[in-house]
Amino acid sequence: MPGANGHKHLLSISELDSEEIYKLLDSARSFAEVSNRPVKKVPALRGRTIVNLFLEPSTRTRMSFEVAAKRLSADVMNFATSDSSLSKGESLKDTGKTIVAMGVDAVVIRCKSAGAPHLLTGWVDCSVINAGDGMHEHPTQALLDLFTMRERLGGLEGLNVAIVGDIDHSRVARSNIHALNKVGAKVMLVAPRSLLPERVEEMGARVTGSLDEALDWCDVLYLLRIQMERVNQSRFPSLREYTLQYGLTQTRWNRLKRKPLVMHPGPMNRGVEIASGVADEVESVITGQVSAGVAVRMAVLYDVLGGSHG
Ligand code: CP
Repeated sequence: MPGANGHKHLLSISELDSEEIYKLLDSARSFAEVSNRPVKKVPALRGRTIVNLFLEPSTRTRMSFEVAAKRLSADVMNFATSDSSLSKGESLKDTGKTIVAMGVDAVVIRCKSAGAPHLLTGWVDCSVINAGDGMHEHPTQALLDLFTMRERLGGLEGLNVAIVGDIDHSRVARSNIHALNKVGAKVMLVAPRSLLPERVEEMGARVTGSLDEALDWCDVLYLLRIQMERVNQSRFPSLREYTLQYGLTQTRWNRLKRKPLVMHPGPMNRGVEIASGVADEVESVITGQVSAGVAVRMAVLYDVLGGSHG
């Protein structure tokens, strides 16, 4: 039985149209039901082998791809730089070819280099899924975010979504902007100029420097982490200053008469982009995103491996 769209790879949201996004979200809704059963397993990918090739740290994405693959009855191998021959200087090309020579059906890759998942498709004949490549895209994160908004708010078309923080370094923001535009939601980006990419006006979103303006407008407030590993603090005067201007502080939250759905891709910097008390208050949505990640990744794995390409 073919998957939702029958694509061989998932490299970016840009390659999906609105209908394909909705098919994946519908498929994820069916798979979410599997996670609520006492026996959380279906035989959909029995006999298939999936490798998690994670060359950058990850908690949520790596674990949820592993759980998703196991719930579909696939065999899973986990692979990290530190315990592999990559640490001895082996190239990604040779590593990919070595993995696939073992009869692997799909590689899920997280890496620092934008475009590496695309390159990998030229070196291996199995499916490749992008689990976050540098500052480029994180397509399954955007899909799980859309899934969460749709389930919580009833629909996506016409939703006002404000994305706040380090837009420049954020693959999550890029994938979400593409995805939200495709399904007819409206996007506002909230950040100091120094954390916005060049040519931001071409991204299909309104831009503001005022979090309070965004809070008046939005149905969903999507907070991003300040990426300490990619940004140095010269981009803004101090973390304290950033929090005062762009953080969802307790005072700001308490003042709101109409509270938006607050989302965060994780990991959170409590006390920076979100006050710890607010994070606790909205925890069910943020952990809901994590649960949605399993269902969405089941849908994506089934899409790339359940059809004729598998
Ligand atoms: N949201 C996200 O990608 O989290 P991880 O880095 O923990 O996978």
